[in-house]
Amino acid sequence: MARKNTAVLISGRGSNMQALLDAARNPDFPARIVRVISNVWDAPGLKRAEAAGIATSVIDHRAFNGRAAFEAALDQALRTDGIELACLAGFMRLLTADFVNGWRDRLINIHPSLLPAFPGLDTHARALAAGVRFTGCTVHFVRPTMDEGPIIVQAAVPVLYNDDEATLAARVLAAEHKAYPLALRLVASGRAKVVDQRVQIDGESAPEGPIFNPQP
Ligand code: GRF
Repeated sequence: MARKNTAVLISGRGSNMQALLDAARNPDFPARIVRVISNVWDAPGLKRAEAAGIATSVIDHRAFNGRAAFEAALDQALRTDGIELACLAGFMRLLTADFVNGWRDRLINIHPSLLPAFPGLDTHARALAAGVRFTGCTVHFVRPTMDEGPIIVQAAVPVLYNDDEATLAARVLAAEHKAYPLALRLVASGRAKVVDQRVQIDGESAPEGPIFNPQP
């Protein structure tokens, strides 16, 4: 099967981007990362992409007169590369309904909580304050409402009493680095499909469970 041309959109560190690049280095991986686009000139992820030999571009939102013009440039860049799937990986611009609808079911995001819990920012502080025993990450198709959309993969991690934001963020991030490549593989291979606003996974099987925290 032809590998799906994929772009990764970043604004910062790019550790999830790196996880996607690493996975896609395998020629059997169903997505090929053809370009990394940042809206921030000095995003550290750009250097990591260059080091991996991936084409990069910067589309600086501040250079445009309004969101529509920025998104038109982004859309044009994706089309020029023949992009079929775009992965938001720490991309810190809200995208309008026009853009999101134009890329419906081809635009994927990762969020550091078990959505629909804790959409938005400061997810780990809020998970700690709420006292939840699990948090995690969610990879989902993007819809116009922020941090909403059909869920492709979730990974749960325990929250421990002595965690602080940094320890919890590190545990979730390690899960993100596995969840995002898994989700991209499922989507690019056609195994994950949106059916009635939920994701159906071909040939899915239940993981061993239940998972307890604390351990019984
Ligand atoms: C990740 O926690 C991701 O879930 C969130 O932003 C962070 C990006 O980190 N959307 P990185 O740039 O991938 O290292």
